[in-house]
Amino acid sequence: MATGPEEASQRGNMARPWLRLELPQEERVQALLAEMTLAEKVGQTHQIHNLDPGSDRELIASGGIGSSLMASGATAGNERDEGVRACAVNAAQRIAVQESRLGIPLLFGRDVIHGHRTVFPIPLGLAATWDEDLVRRAARLAATEASADGVTWTFAPMLDISEEPRWGRVAESLGEAPVLAGRLGAAMVRGFQGEVLGGPGTVAACAKHFVGYGLVGGGRDYETVQVGENTLRNVHLRPFLDAVRAGCATVMAAFTDVDGVPMHAHRRLLRDVLKGEWGFDGVVVADWDGVGQLVAQGVATDLRDAAAQAIAAGVDIDMVSGAYAAHLAELVESGQVPLAVVDDAARRVIRLKIRHGLFEHPYVAATTSAPQPWPQSRLLAREAAAASFVLLTNKGTLPLAPDTGRVLLTGPFAQEGEALLGTWTLDGRGEEVASPASAIQTLLRGEAVIDDGRFSDQTMHLARQADITVALVGEHPSRSGEAHSVADLGLPAGQLEVLRAIAALGKPLVVVVFTGRPLDLGEVLDFADAVLVAWHPGLEAGPALMETLFGERSPGGRLPMTFPRSVGHLPSSSLARPTGRPIDAARDPAAGRYLDALVVPRLPFGSGLTYTTFSYGPLRLSATEMALHGGSIQVSIDVTNSGERPGREVVQLYLRDIVADVTRPLVELADWVSLVLDAGAVGTATFTITPEQLAYYDRTMTRRIDPGEALVTVGPDAAGGSCARITVTD
Ligand code: BGC
Repeated sequence: MATGPEEASQRGNMARPWLRLELPQEERVQALLAEMTLAEKVGQTHQIHNLDPGSDRELIASGGIGSSLMASGATAGNERDEGVRACAVNAAQRIAVQESRLGIPLLFGRDVIHGHRTVFPIPLGLAATWDEDLVRRAARLAATEASADGVTWTFAPMLDISEEPRWGRVAESLGEAPVLAGRLGAAMVRGFQGEVLGGPGTVAACAKHFVGYGLVGGGRDYETVQVGENTLRNVHLRPFLDAVRAGCATVMAAFTDVDGVPMHAHRRLLRDVLKGEWGFDGVVVADWDGVGQLVAQGVATDLRDAAAQAIAAGVDIDMVSGAYAAHLAELVESGQVPLAVVDDAARRVIRLKIRHGLFEHPYVAATTSAPQPWPQSRLLAREAAAASFVLLTNKGTLPLAPDTGRVLLTGPFAQEGEALLGTWTLDGRGEEVASPASAIQTLLRGEAVIDDGRFSDQTMHLARQADITVALVGEHPSRSGEAHSVADLGLPAGQLEVLRAIAALGKPLVVVVFTGRPLDLGEVLDFADAVLVAWHPGLEAGPALMETLFGERSPGGRLPMTFPRSVGHLPSSSLARPTGRPIDAARDPAAGRYLDALVVPRLPFGSGLTYTTFSYGPLRLSATEMALHGGSIQVSIDVTNSGERPGREVVQLYLRDIVADVTRPLVELADWVSLVLDAGAVGTATFTITPEQLAYYDRTMTRRIDPGEALVTVGPDAAGGSCARITVTD
């Protein structure tokens, strides 16, 4: 009797129960695992870069590979490549699905860090928006574009708590505050993975780099890390837990060690804390050659030893070192690695593929790359760019009036496009960037004077003739990102001198700083009439900037990292804890730890100005006591827009546990509320404080909440605000 294709496929699915959607996920995972040989299990743990359907055909068909990293090389974020070709992805996938014994589809990973074809601000800029919904929408769009190109897995969000601006990778981070990074990171996860991973246009997210990478000594990339478990738990692990709770499918191990133990061999943190304590059932992926680097770190004799240590520690996928493919099977056969350990790794990879719906939808629909970014996508990129700008100073010069006279646009970034995309832009195209020069010409109908970008003698000549100078200075992205640390936080060579000379002309000078890190802007903050930090804003850099400078939009971003006074002041962040001999900066700003300098930051965490002013009313508390179990206090404050323009105020809540088992931060961001207010309007920011927000890990690494007093501060940044004391009662 003839059978239809449906029946035949049903019969096939009976033989392959892992394809049966009606079965519970874990039953499908187990059914597939039970069919797999040791070699096929090891295959799922093996990842190479730029898998090729031609030269790697045999590897794929044998089930010897589980995923591919689509990247140009070891530090892909600093280079451009040809991009992902959907037809190559499909060709490789077809071999895996149709020619390998069990038909297990492959995962294709790529660093989609701040947009794909539509490039958003660098993550540090996105963090400056303090806007979870905007960050989620940006990640959603990036996932839609990337998945159309065949990407099924991105290596983002980067959640390394970053308080060391010399480290180039702060550009990729979401800043220094665990609550900000955790909430924005979770928003990114929800954006990348959608409502449910496997839905249309979703990619698996990856929380990286687990953990402590932000603490590299001296800010030098890949340096060793000194940190105790208490600080890890109370600070650095927190955003990762938020990402895991948001359903993040994968986690990447950090290149660095933690107090002598390389993270790729850190059983306690990977297997005990992440997988055990937190119940993370997703995949832990190595960083690029992170398993192999255990040899260079001097804790493994060779690749075989490295493989044994990494798999035991809980690294499920070996990114590019080849150690697992070469040695895992033999390590199991010789009894040095229990089969159960390899089973656990393979099970996690299979679970991810099932969760991702790859067995049902292994192929990319389109065979050509995504076309130019859609106009709506550009609008979102513009919204995000404008929201990321942070106004540091303004002597009333901004916003500029359209009839402001002769405007000179100068500085190394005046005519730039590609440079404004920022580090880790693998798929954005420089020629599609709307440059500041083109944007100002559109706005001023060709009447602005555009300098050649050399920032030379000619600049001085033009500045003398202009009524106002807008200087676009700062760092090229090649000065930030992976393996791009600096020892000096000042502006790049020569820029300060030219700015100083322009300022000396006595005409208005607006300085826009493109940067991937907090810089020591020193006297620029004093002599310039306005300073705006624009990070690396992405595809819509020019229009977002001009709309802001000319007042169509108001800057509403806030610093996600402290701006220090100088390199000599590092560390300088809002994570400071009390010492036995406290500094009372409020009473005596000159008091401090240095004989020759102030110790307070140049610009505090959370700060940023707008084109209007806000005044805060008194703090109102619904009660001054809250029960440790189930209690809460409502704190509210009225904020008045006391200026003449509409604007956004980010009202911030900071908490301090006054007496704890370990030293706790002097001010720690606990929550924030954004108020968008018209001139003269009054808004109310309301926070619900719960005992949970005061929870921390004590000397025995036990999570606890102390009965007793806490200090509540509500204000515009980490440097001050209105305070009240509350009591947590037993
Ligand atoms: C970086 C990771 C990145 C990986 C893959 C490494 O060099 O540290 O952040 O995801 O490469 O490109």
